[in-house]
Amino acid sequence: NTLTASHPLVDGRTSAAPLVRALRGDRPERMPVWFMRQAGRSLPEYRAIRADTRMLDACLDPALASEITLQPVRRHGVDAAVFFSDIVVPLLLAGVEVDLVAGRGPVFPHPVRTAADVARCRAEFGADRLSEALEPVREAVRLTVAELGATPLIGFAGAPFTLAAYLVEGGPSRDHLRARTLMHADPETWRELLDWAAELSGAFLEAQVQAGASAVQLFDSWAGSLSVADYRERVAPASRRALEPVQRIGTVPSIHFAVGSGHLLEELAAVGTSAVGVDWRTPLDEASRRLGDAVPLQGNLDPAYLGAPEDTLKAHLEDVLQRGSRAPAHVLNLGHGVPPETDPAVLTRIVELAHER
Ligand code: CP3
Repeated sequence: NTLTASHPLVDGRTSAAPLVRALRGDRPERMPVWFMRQAGRSLPEYRAIRADTRMLDACLDPALASEITLQPVRRHGVDAAVFFSDIVVPLLLAGVEVDLVAGRGPVFPHPVRTAADVARCRAEFGADRLSEALEPVREAVRLTVAELGATPLIGFAGAPFTLAAYLVEGGPSRDHLRARTLMHADPETWRELLDWAAELSGAFLEAQVQAGASAVQLFDSWAGSLSVADYRERVAPASRRALEPVQRIGTVPSIHFAVGSGHLLEELAAVGTSAVGVDWRTPLDEASRRLGDAVPLQGNLDPAYLGAPEDTLKAHLEDVLQRGSRAPAHVLNLGHGVPPETDPAVLTRIVELAHER
């Protein structure tokens, strides 16, 4: 399991890129910056090109997915592209029925709630089906990387808990109570559900990396609803398994991000990742101290500042950079995704300000 000679990390296109260097623990001259959800509804060019294509159809159209991935790189001059797709795409490609409802999120018409449901998923929607079905994803990544040159592409996947929270609930939920109940009511079924999700996410990450992604991010958006003990014992092993195909390759850096997870920082790092993504609630200096000042950090501008006057935003940016200087390395990002109503000019300005320093 190695990268091909034409992979951008191997042929030298991205191996010295600021993002890759920072994720490996270095402090490049230029502060690397990108934004979670930078491709999407904040961009008029995205809304135009997506106008008559459904979200998941766009994800599986290699030319379209590639073009959408490139849009924010051209516009903002960010230091990385993030692959345009969604955390539910590997489930869809494995055969699971799923829809992405605008303004709501992933909806599963057949929630996975019982031992029999999980057994059926594992039997019918296994990772074995996935390899071939992932071809449009690989093709989109290849097209994108061919255009990106020295700018790295970040591949991503949903972490097993976040996928399970949607699968068990059947859609978005506030406190993921049904999923967390299954965890304790039937721990064996829970473990099998997370194992299955980890296999699919791992295969999704591996496909993106083999096709040319120079880094990956594992998104555990809902892990914040878990206690430290539940996360450590019933969730972290599956997240570790999802990252394994990438770690086996060895040279590809990874970012592990969860929302509302200040209490979980040590656990997120312990999963074995190059960097930890911090949401806006935990100051980066405090996050770094908790991690022994030994882990590269990503984050953590509060998205609420994107609508504030420029001087207010600038002071917040200074504060984030100052606190981030405590960590061995820092990748500037938001503390969660770009809100759809964001003025894209504000994002471009943040990139300029970060690069000017
Ligand atoms: O720019 C990027 O970050 C790349 C693309 C990306 C999307 N989804 C595209 C998308 C990424 C990295 C994701 C990850 C994702 N998807 C997460 C983890 C990150 C996070 O925000 O916590 C989660 C939880 C999902 C599930 C999901 N998919 C949600 C909650 C939604 C939003 C529903 C809505 O309309 O508010 C989606 C749909 C989705 N995924 C959109 C985009 C651009 C919006 C669909 C549209 O444009 O019509």
